[in-house]
Amino acid sequence: MGFSDYRTALVTGASSGIGAATVRRLCAEGMEVHALARDARRLARLSAETGCRVCEIDVNDLGAVKQLAALVAFDILINNAGQSRRGTILEMAPDDVDTLVDVNLRAVLHLTRLIVPGMASRDRGHVVNISSIAGHYAFGENATTFNSSVAYHATKAGIHSLSQQLRVDLYGTRVRVTEISLGRVATSIFQNQNAVENPDARFVAGFETLQSEDIADAIAFAVGAPTPMNVAMIEVIPTFQVVGGLQFARRSEAAPVQDMTTGADNA
Ligand SMILES: NC(=O)c1ccc[n+]([C@@H]2O[C@H](COP(=O)([O-])OP(=O)(O)OC[C@H]3O[C@@H](n4cnc5c(N)ncnc54)[C@H](OP(=O)(O)O)[C@@H]3O)[C@@H](O)[C@H]2O)c1
Repeated sequence: MGFSDYRTALVTGASSGIGAATVRRLCAEGMEVHALARDARRLARLSAETGCRVCEIDVNDLGAVKQLAALVAFDILINNAGQSRRGTILEMAPDDVDTLVDVNLRAVLHLTRLIVPGMASRDRGHVVNISSIAGHYAFGENATTFNSSVAYHATKAGIHSLSQQLRVDLYGTRVRVTEISLGRVATSIFQNQNAVENPDARFVAGFETLQSEDIADAIAFAVGAPTPMNVAMIEVIPTFQVVGGLQFARRSEAAPVQDMTTGADNA
């Protein structure tokens, strides 16, 4: 089985939610797990509980990530660290665009670049990329009331694309690549929403959401599968959450077309 082929794992975004649950799961499988995030106190608590190694690192600190990758021959890389923001592109702050691209996509590309060549040369390894249904579907709900922005959708679509192409780059090696695309999971990602009143009530309480442990189980299924089997992609959504819909605005609802020369409405 896959687990017996592997010894070391790196989990990013390990201080809470899905990352912390995954650290617990992989430690229970007997892995040497390196837990990476910025919150040192939470990581220390997780380490006391599970015995994981603490990596207090910002995924965007390229120097620190490079040092870690040179120090440990990782067999498993779980690219899980992520942030989300609300708002349409019409109103989004520039810093929010940068943060989402940096944490959700740029860091994943660099971690992959730094860690996967070692796996390829050892002919052993597994990369698990956490994406989102936001990367695969447009959401009918208005982005101002929901936990996603066009930049979040774009970064998660990037994770899908890089997972597909990474398999091509690794052709002929025993390095597996799994994308796990998620619907709503009850984690603190909803607490960090800018200017949402009572985010827990809005996104979590009252819903039968997924739990972080469900996703850790999905990761363990992919990693624990026999090595000749690559679970390339899993989409996990709550039973009560569906994606789909069609909107078609009537002509009368459309915004008036502006005359570009005068700025006046073209009636
Ligand atoms: N929850 C959902 O409904 C849902 C749905 C689809 C996809 N996802 C994806 O699932 C992944 C895990 O999120 P979660 O739901 O478990 O949320 P979470 O509880 O908020 O966890 C996010 C993790 O990312 C870490 N992180 C954020 N910025 C970082 C940075 N610059 N450097 C290092 N670590 C950083 C955070 O740790 P520190 O703050 O300590 O750095 C935290 O451990 C994300 O990629 C998210 O997009 C979640």
